Amino acid sequence: MSTGDDLLKKVISHCKEYGFVFPSSEIYDGLSATYDYGPNGVELKNNLKEYWWKAMVQMHENIVGLDASIFMHSSTWKASGHLEAFNDPLIDNKDSKKRYRADVLIEEHIEKIRAKIQKEVKKAAKKFGGSFEEAMFLETNPRVQKYQNQIASIESKMKHLLDDEDLKGLKQLIEELGIADPVSGSKNWTDVRQFNLMFSTELGSVASGANKVYLRPETAQGIFVNFANVQKTGRMKIPFGIAQTGKAFRNEIIARQFIFRMREFEQMEMQFFVKPGTEITHYENWKKKRMRWHESLGLGSEKYRIHDHIKLAHYANAACDIEYDFPMGFKELEGVHSRTDFDLKGHEKESGKKLQYFDPEENESYTPYVVETSIGLDRLFLAVISAAFNEETLEDGTQRTVLNIPTFLAPVKAVVMPLTKKDGLPEKAREILSALQPNMICKYDEKDSIGKRYRRQDAVGTPYCITVDHETLENGTVTIRERDSMNQDRVSAQNLTDLLQEKTNQASILSKLH
Ligand code: GAP
Repeated sequence: MSTGDDLLKKVISHCKEYGFVFPSSEIYDGLSATYDYGPNGVELKNNLKEYWWKAMVQMHENIVGLDASIFMHSSTWKASGHLEAFNDPLIDNKDSKKRYRADVLIEEHIEKIRAKIQKEVKKAAKKFGGSFEEAMFLETNPRVQKYQNQIASIESKMKHLLDDEDLKGLKQLIEELGIADPVSGSKNWTDVRQFNLMFSTELGSVASGANKVYLRPETAQGIFVNFANVQKTGRMKIPFGIAQTGKAFRNEIIARQFIFRMREFEQMEMQFFVKPGTEITHYENWKKKRMRWHESLGLGSEKYRIHDHIKLAHYANAACDIEYDFPMGFKELEGVHSRTDFDLKGHEKESGKKLQYFDPEENESYTPYVVETSIGLDRLFLAVISAAFNEETLEDGTQRTVLNIPTFLAPVKAVVMPLTKKDGLPEKAREILSALQPNMICKYDEKDSIGKRYRRQDAVGTPYCITVDHETLENGTVTIRERDSMNQDRVSAQNLTDLLQEKTNQASILSKLH
């Protein structure tokens, strides 16, 4: 089984070969950190989006949808604090001329110390065998204790430096820790500087007086500026939520690891407006609810962990990441943030418009507090596809590459295949395909041997292959072959739509979320 960098490399090349993800503008040698989703990729992405939307909007009486524009009035970003504070602390290596985020360099240093702890654990587990107790070892082993103290001390120093925006202190910490450029090994660093991550462009022609506008770095602000529109027109009562999906743009300095960190990406966000003072209860509730949603995807609950933020964003009074065990280790997949009334108050001040809620139960008006859930669709895609990628050796010694994508998310649900290209089998297969098509994405394939066709479908994660043979013409039955078990059954073609819908639609998975 592939892991780590090896798995990531294989996933990237599989995604390209099978039409999931292509490097953007590839014929011009690509554009760094931008990617295009191919025919299979767009279906998987749409299914993920649909599953999120249904769980978030369709299954909550008090959550409604929105589709705000990407361009927003430039005052938006003053009010939200992004012009002032949406910065990364950057440092350049003078020898390699490479640029890094100072906090990421320090975090990577911490990860190296964590890896040393894991090495100690592995060594001890091997030495003590069945009698090894990991929790006890972690608490008592002096070397592990030393590493843990080092981590705690570095984390605490970094938190203070970031909170105080102490750029000199960050550089000093990098030097104290002896952090070297991962590419050149050089320790010859520049000072740390702040760098704003928003892209800007101009609206209107220059002659008629151009206006600077920004590409939104998060979809959330489209929700905040529409708070009163949605609340009033929908007669929404607090607590209620507004959800939207859409593109966001950030001029990421370290854009790498495939679709994990891109400059143009898609977010699925929900802002939940609550009564001040109740936000932490709602925050805890959304943390649990979002974990349950992730677990419902079936990738394995051990693949997730919660990381409470050390450094809170400029708008938050509590925040955590839901991290996923990607091929490159545990990394942020989703953020859950208690954003206080920072955004609504900011927009009130900047626009001069009231963004308050009259609470009929309390008989008073107030500015609601907000709890936000924010997930990157591209990161979710990477989580699903890397969990699904499998290289198997079969009983007969042959190999197959299979994507075990959860059936309700698979890009293509079934492929109909005539056993041969003659005797009226293609016509019958197309008849069956036509009956299935209005209900789900299905394809037709008559090229090559059945074995080769199965392998092709395994590689794109199609959960069911339907074979039409001479018996089909006689008694109306077909063979249905299941991707993961490779089991084959004979079923009536007439029942296929119901059977496949039951096995592949999202409803049964969604109903478990209630
Ligand atoms: N509105 C809150 C917000 O934007 P965030 O933690 O900056 O919070 C939310 O981003 C999510 O968006 C992240 O958890 C991640 O999944 C996704 N995301 C952020 N930056 C990204 C990038 N450069 N490429 C891909 N996904 C990204």
